[in-house]
Amino acid sequence: MNRIRKIWNYLTSYGQNKRTLRILEERTTTPLYLRHLHKVLKYSVNHKQSAEQMLSQMVISYHSIEKGLAMNEKRYGFGQPKMRKLVSLCNLYLDTYGDYPSRLEDTLGVIAEYDQLHKEQGVSLREDLQLSIDDILQRTEGHWHLSHTRHITKQVYFENIQKSFAQFSASRHSIRDFDGTEVPKAIMDKAFDLAQNAPSACNRQATRVYAVYDKQLIEKLVDLQNHERSFADNARPLLVISTELQSWGSGEEWFGGYVDAGIYIMNLLYALHYHQVAAIPLNWYADVESQQQIHGLLNIPASQEVVAFIACGNPKEEFNLVTSKRRKAKEIVTYL
Ligand SMILES: Cc1cc2nc3c(=O)[nH]c(=O)nc-3n(C[C@H](O)[C@H](O)[C@H](O)COP(=O)(O)O)c2cc1C
Repeated sequence: MNRIRKIWNYLTSYGQNKRTLRILEERTTTPLYLRHLHKVLKYSVNHKQSAEQMLSQMVISYHSIEKGLAMNEKRYGFGQPKMRKLVSLCNLYLDTYGDYPSRLEDTLGVIAEYDQLHKEQGVSLREDLQLSIDDILQRTEGHWHLSHTRHITKQVYFENIQKSFAQFSASRHSIRDFDGTEVPKAIMDKAFDLAQNAPSACNRQATRVYAVYDKQLIEKLVDLQNHERSFADNARPLLVISTELQSWGSGEEWFGGYVDAGIYIMNLLYALHYHQVAAIPLNWYADVESQQQIHGLLNIPASQEVVAFIACGNPKEEFNLVTSKRRKAKEIVTYL
């Protein structure tokens, strides 16, 4: 009851009490939000009963390990609790389902690469973890291979930007190693102009961009984002992407801004790559307090909702890439 009252107080704290009430009472809105809540409670990745939930958990966990493997200055022995979780998830999946979908094989590849790196460096892991790693790699022999991290020069990274779309698209990756210098605003302007080709629902163009160059502001934003201090501090600029809520109806349309912003972000990532700007999208999965803080920091109108960040920068002459394996299209497409 307390929690419901809190939610209610929050909902009505925006000085639009009567309007909020009316909107909540609209027939279309309330059932939609209840349906959303029901789906969150039932299907979120926080549970690990189904194959899909287990595989999604694996990818989320292995991704942070593969990022650690690609760091220039590695902290050997990093991520051991996560590795323990990964190994036990793989065993649980195999005991329950027994097959080898690509996400499981990719997870095993990351475990093998982590194992190889530490053995090569002569760094001992905790004994029980090492035993469980040896055990799972033996159990799954033939189902994993090592190829998650790639060392690359800036010149090779950008060599496909004028080639066919297939080559161009395959050559874009998230870069987590900026040299700390600013990307000139003139180049950012070219990328922003190009990204305007992105489609949007009814051509509403509700996405907004805040391009932050100020070092102290960037540090505060990265602190708020809370995950990526190891590289995002070096971004110049850090982009904050939002959607203007005043463009969207209160019922079925309400989440349209997030879809449009996602499409815009992809177009902008390609536009940045085309103009030889290194970039990485960053999540903005923020609680209410952080949402309020970011609005204050950047003077973002209350009518906008922040959706994601993009860290931009100039890449170093040489850097490591995380290759982030993809599922096969046939694993996700259904023809009817
Ligand atoms: C919405 C979104 C949020 C992301 N957030 C983060 C993040 O917080 N930290 C990070 O290192 N990578 C983040 N990424 C980058 C993904 O890890 C990366 O896009 C994915 O592994 C595929 O790799 P690629 O971009 O090199 O093709 C994010 C990507 C997207 C699309």
